[in-house]
Amino acid sequence: MGQILELDKPIDWHTHLRWDERTKIVLPHSARVFSAVEVMPNAKDPDTGKMVVDSKTVAKYKKYLQSVLAETMGSDYEFEFIMSLYLTDKTDIQDLKSGYRDGLFKAVKMYPLGATTGSDAGISEVKNVAHVLEVMSELGIPLLIHPEMSPSKEMNILESESIFVNSTLSWIRKNFSNLKIVVEHVTTKESLKFVLENSNTWGTITPQHLLFNHNAIFEGGLQPDMYCLPLLKQIEHQKYLNDNLFKAIVLDKLALGTDTAPHMSKDKYKPCGCAGVFSAPVALEAYYQAFKNNLGNDNELIKVAMQRFAHILLPVYGINLEDLPKRDISLLKSSWQVPKEYEGITPMFAGQTLEVKALNE
Ligand code: DOR
Ligand code: ZN
Repeated sequence: MGQILELDKPIDWHTHLRWDERTKIVLPHSARVFSAVEVMPNAKDPDTGKMVVDSKTVAKYKKYLQSVLAETMGSDYEFEFIMSLYLTDKTDIQDLKSGYRDGLFKAVKMYPLGATTGSDAGISEVKNVAHVLEVMSELGIPLLIHPEMSPSKEMNILESESIFVNSTLSWIRKNFSNLKIVVEHVTTKESLKFVLENSNTWGTITPQHLLFNHNAIFEGGLQPDMYCLPLLKQIEHQKYLNDNLFKAIVLDKLALGTDTAPHMSKDKYKPCGCAGVFSAPVALEAYYQAFKNNLGNDNELIKVAMQRFAHILLPVYGINLEDLPKRDISLLKSSWQVPKEYEGITPMFAGQTLEVKALNE
């Protein structure tokens, strides 16, 4: 098994860990290869049925995740949860200020109402939360955005992101010029251009949006495992993302964010099946493939680019690398077959043979 490259364990800036029986299954996959993850707040508190919409729930959710980490990886396993707060029409300013001051969360996530899984507490109209954005801007709290419109029968779903960028996102950018904005999972030319052209604006990108286009949803029949939101896009968008990946990293604009989003396969393989790709078990291998496709076989260059990609948002969030667990992860040349499922959850590349494997020290 030859070593291809070694990295400081990266940070995944976009992860769904759930708050139910799935957490135990999926969390170890992220904890194995990353030093820290930005935890998305669209998880339901099993006691109250509420999403992670206030600082008390953030604290409770983090405690739950820490207990699952201890149970599955051992009590002294070093791994950090970077928490975020779910922005709603009713976000309480005092709670936002005190929760942020106390370090409970580092960012706030905005979901347009109904735009994706777990967005039923999302905002109905951006102007309703202008006063919250004002305070976030003053305090330097990053706003993480799911960049799609709420659904409408008149709108082409493939254009949902571009329309959002040209309307809501542009409005926010124009009215809150100091607000730090992270455009999550960019999938289109318009989004990446927006990120590149605007100051105080960054993006994250998933492995699936680099490696695939929307043909993958229909290849050989319907492929629910390739259904995520935002959807995989047309070939020209995929090409633009890849063509500009390296430039966006060099400019410190684009960060690693897998959007690993596990659902039980039975909840995906049915009418109205859930959106989300469970990529955590193969995330680094998949990103490596995307980097190799763009940068060729220069593993030194790939290493520098991947490392930078993993750390770009540290200063945006105000986190010191020294405060995170310091571990290495190696990518090795090693043939292995991705399991068809992990306890009822199908991973990306299920059943496929990969030639590269990420190995924990
Ligand atoms: O495909 C997705 N799944 N997109 C999201 O924005 C949410 C995620 C989930 O939580 O399952
Ligand atoms: Zn997500």
